Amino acid sequence: MKLNISGRTALVTGAASGIGFEAAHQLIGEGVTVVMTDHNADDVTAARERLDSEHDKTGVVAADVTSLADLSRMHRYVSENFGPIDILVNSAGITGATGSFHEIDDADWVHAVEVNLHGPVRLTREFLPDLRSGGWGRIVYLASEDATQPYEDELPYCAAKAGVLAFAKGLSRTYAREGLLVNCVSPAFIETPMTDAMMRGRAEDLGVGFDEAIESFLAEERPFMSLGRRGQPAEVASVIVFLCSDAAGFVNGSNYRVDSGSVGSI
Ligand code: NAI
Repeated sequence: MKLNISGRTALVTGAASGIGFEAAHQLIGEGVTVVMTDHNADDVTAARERLDSEHDKTGVVAADVTSLADLSRMHRYVSENFGPIDILVNSAGITGATGSFHEIDDADWVHAVEVNLHGPVRLTREFLPDLRSGGWGRIVYLASEDATQPYEDELPYCAAKAGVLAFAKGLSRTYAREGLLVNCVSPAFIETPMTDAMMRGRAEDLGVGFDEAIESFLAEERPFMSLGRRGQPAEVASVIVFLCSDAAGFVNGSNYRVDSGSVGSI
């Protein structure tokens, strides 16, 4: 399959870690110039050093997706050094507050929505002129299995990610005829620092080891994950890269599940 994206320019958020890092890695492998961003400058710089990439083709910039000032500063850096972007991958995200509904306060709700939903909305608005300028563009949002199969102990995250699906679906209708395609990817239980933290918490709560926490989580909490294991970031990144490519030229407004069957409905 020919992806035909060599020479394109991408901005990848959450690129210091997990799925965002691996998406940046695979895009670079396809000849894409990638600007890696995350909210901690040291982390994202260290992430670039882990990649075998030429520095003039791989930018790094720190920005918090909840800060309009950061995003406009990042936009200036990207424009001055790399020109307009063709591809935006929104991977920055947090689990946010967990627990029963009555244990989660207003500030927790606002924070989860700020990072997971309002962050991608802001980024999209900031970079929309770039993405519309060349007659060809791709936006990919990381939603989650939680968007369509909400879990009662992660409601702020579930609601924010459901918002991402609705936002992306609506947006996909607005600019498609200009060549700007918008899609979501919804993973489940991928082996990244995000789920490592979840499993450390579970191990502590249950008084068991880390591996046992994963096994019991799969058995008790994710019964439809038919492969019976955590996913790898590379297994999500390959779908992201496909959606960023020419090969996905007729894919718009979709939500690709990369969850080994975790979402129980058809
Ligand atoms: P991760 O925790 O490994 O990476 C997320 C990155 O986002 C981190 O580097 C973090 O510094 C960055 N980030 C957090 N808040 C930020 C902010 N305010 N501004 C800028 N950057 C910020 O997480 P992972 O697992 O790679 O997740 C990536 C995306 O995939 C997230 O949106 C997550 O919700 C989604 N996802 C992940 C799943 C999983 O099982 N790992 C399952 C479903 C969805």
